[in-house]
Amino acid sequence: MEEKVFHIPVLPKETIEFLSPAPGEIFVDCTLGGGGHAEKILKRIGPSGKLVGIDCDPEAIRESQKNLARFKDQVIFVNDNFINLKNILQNLNISGIDGILFDLGVSWHQLETPERGFSLKEKGMDASLDMRMNPAQQFKAYDIVNFYPEKKLRELFFKLGEEPFGGKIAREIIRARDRKKIKTCGELLDLIRRATPPDYRFSRKGHWATKTFRALRMEVNQELPTLEETLPQALEVLKPGGRLVVISF
Ligand SMILES: C[S@@+](CC[C@H](N)C(=O)[O-])C[C@H]1O[C@@H](n2cnc3c(N)ncnc32)[C@H](O)[C@@H]1O
Repeated sequence: MEEKVFHIPVLPKETIEFLSPAPGEIFVDCTLGGGGHAEKILKRIGPSGKLVGIDCDPEAIRESQKNLARFKDQVIFVNDNFINLKNILQNLNISGIDGILFDLGVSWHQLETPERGFSLKEKGMDASLDMRMNPAQQFKAYDIVNFYPEKKLRELFFKLGEEPFGGKIAREIIRARDRKKIKTCGELLDLIRRATPPDYRFSRKGHWATKTFRALRMEVNQELPTLEETLPQALEVLKPGGRLVVISF
């Protein structure tokens, strides 16, 4: 039977080299996902080490519990937002962290689950505008697309998405939603198509709507403000000589 890939950890060699986990050390993986990086850390810290694995997506917690079952006495799984890092560690009575990992963005599983609204593939077009990493959160991409004022949408697409046609896309969205609410990824994609010239779309290496979708995803999940609030906490909980790795691309 074909096994479904949840996530393939990026830069595994470099991550382990910089985190440099040693037997008996305490680590926090703030973005546990499928547990790929965590597994590599756990192998290095051995049975006397500990890893706190945090993820705001309960599906990631379930998957990593399965994948890391053989390390269950060494891992503490926490389904929470990493913005609560200091509190999480205080509640667990854990201090003096040796290493912390942030592997930012969405997992392959989140991206490839059409109904979560992250996908630009054909099978994701009927999905509602969602893009929440934590499905318990109320705020969705639908709220941004249908209720943000034009100026805020434009800024979002320019700043977070670096989308050169951000202004035109914002205008097209406003025009369409004056007639009826924009509900699906497919409807949004049609509007982005209308707002961008064909030569721009055909010249792009990746999908031409990637930048707009990324901006929406980052806003839905408040990715930059969350990181801004968490990084100082990470520095506070690390002990002298502790290591911090942040993967972003
Ligand atoms: C790129 S994946 C991590 C993959 C993981 N390193 C692995 O090897 O499988 C990012 C994960 O971080 C989680 N995540 C993103 N932002 C988060 C936040 N603010 N708090 C907690 N988890 C977050 C996502 O739900 C996702 O599962």
